[in-house]
Amino acid sequence: MSTKNSLPTHVAIIMDGNGRWAKLRGKERYEGHIQGVESVRRVVRAAADTGVKYLTLYAFSTENWGRPAEEVEALMTLFCSCVINETPELISQGVKVNIIGSRARFSDEVNARLNEIEERTAGGQVLNLILALDYSSRSEITKAVRDIAGKVACGELKPEDISEQMISQELYTAAIPDPDLVIRTSGECRLSNFLLWQASYAEFYFPQTLWPDFTEDDFREALEVYASRERRYGIV
Ligand code: FPP
Repeated sequence: MSTKNSLPTHVAIIMDGNGRWAKLRGKERYEGHIQGVESVRRVVRAAADTGVKYLTLYAFSTENWGRPAEEVEALMTLFCSCVINETPELISQGVKVNIIGSRARFSDEVNARLNEIEERTAGGQVLNLILALDYSSRSEITKAVRDIAGKVACGELKPEDISEQMISQELYTAAIPDPDLVIRTSGECRLSNFLLWQASYAEFYFPQTLWPDFTEDDFREALEVYASRERRYGIV
């Protein structure tokens, strides 16, 4: 089945280039992340305005724990201050926030803030904003395999009954449709352990723009590029 696209239901973004943006201006890397929050605001607004229903942002990968301690600390502080500062605006825009990822290594303070933003925005009906935090696709798939293997081991499930749909249901994204469009800013053309299973049939778009410079117009341009693509799902 070949389909011409209109609007993607789900856009997922790897927000890359904050460090380079800061370095180009003689600033510390964390200042690039602070500036990146402006782009998050712009893109959330653009997604809600254009009618995109799901927006996933890769905000902190499991690998990011390996960054210098002061950068990790700055990001944790930023996540907490974003919850405090952005929640009222997100509620007024009808944005519902969900967090995907492990959460095990976050401090109690960060986890409390993440729970707070999920609870306070739970009534949002315009846009689902999914924040991938301490997220790694391989560990997500590994966890799913482990859970399914546990069901087989206790006789609850037969190996031949394991289906693709069942695996999808064991992922953090069980309630979320697969992404139609994956954007990675800054010119890098990699998935970096992001939604490997879910992005099987996604379209990809790799603008050169560094994340802190990414505007509403850049987001709309990505939607136009998506609309011009033809999705064939492996069929002619
Ligand atoms: C990648 O750029 C970006 C990150 C690891 C962090 C992204 C976080 C934000 C934009 C902060 C706020 C987010 C939310 C959702 C509140 P990089 O540092 O790898 O850039 P580089 O490749 O140029 O070094």
